[in-house]
Amino acid sequence: MLVLDSEMSIIPPSIFPHKAHTAWLDCDSCHPEIFNIKKKTTKFFSMSYILRGEFCGVCHLNVAFPMDDCRRCHPGIREG
Ligand code: HEC
Ligand code: HEC
Ligand code: HEC
Repeated sequence: MLVLDSEMSIIPPSIFPHKAHTAWLDCDSCHPEIFNIKKKTTKFFSMSYILRGEFCGVCHLNVAFPMDDCRRCHPGIREG
């Protein structure tokens, strides 16, 4: 499980579980096209791009669970 620290101090880090993904996907579904293979080195990897359909949004806007489920990626986030 990768912990990706947020660039915003008030936002808890997101988590990225490789295992949950490699059960469905090959490495080359994501590397190196979408993500670099070193933690926190992917350029422009931020929420605004994700919501525009890049990075995690390639799948989490359509085939996988949706983006408004903040807590599944940011378990420490406060909603409401
Ligand atoms: C599919 C996973 C996923 C979901 C769902 C998700 N996020 Fe994120 N979020 C990330 C990732 C990955 C980052 C970039 C790495 C980091 O900062 O932790 C991020 C970063 C952020 C940041 C830091 C600033 C920035 O632009 O990078 C904020 C604020 C944020 N998310 C808010 C939210 C809110 C609010 C929701 C729900 C509406 C949400 N996120 C849902 C994965 C997700
Ligand atoms: C669903 C997308 C996805 C799949 C599939 C995937 N990865 Fe990743 N991987 C990521 C993300 C996201 C990061 C973090 C990138 C960043 O933070 O810039 C990452 C980072 C890594 C890292 C760096 C870890 C670190 O601590 O720096 C390695 C090594 C890695 N992946 C190997 C693999 C291998 C091997 C496979 C296939 C078995 C695989 N990945 C499949 C998304 C994926
Ligand atoms: C290539 C497609 C793809 C990409 C890119 C992708 N995911 Fe996923 N993700 C999936 C699928 C498919 C599942 C499993 C089905 C589901 O739970 O909706 C999943 C499941 C998850 C889960 C739930 C794991 C569990 O145990 O329930 C989390 C958390 C998650 N993804 C976070 C992320 C984050 C954060 C990113 C970006 C760093 C990301 N995903 C990028 C396809 C993707």
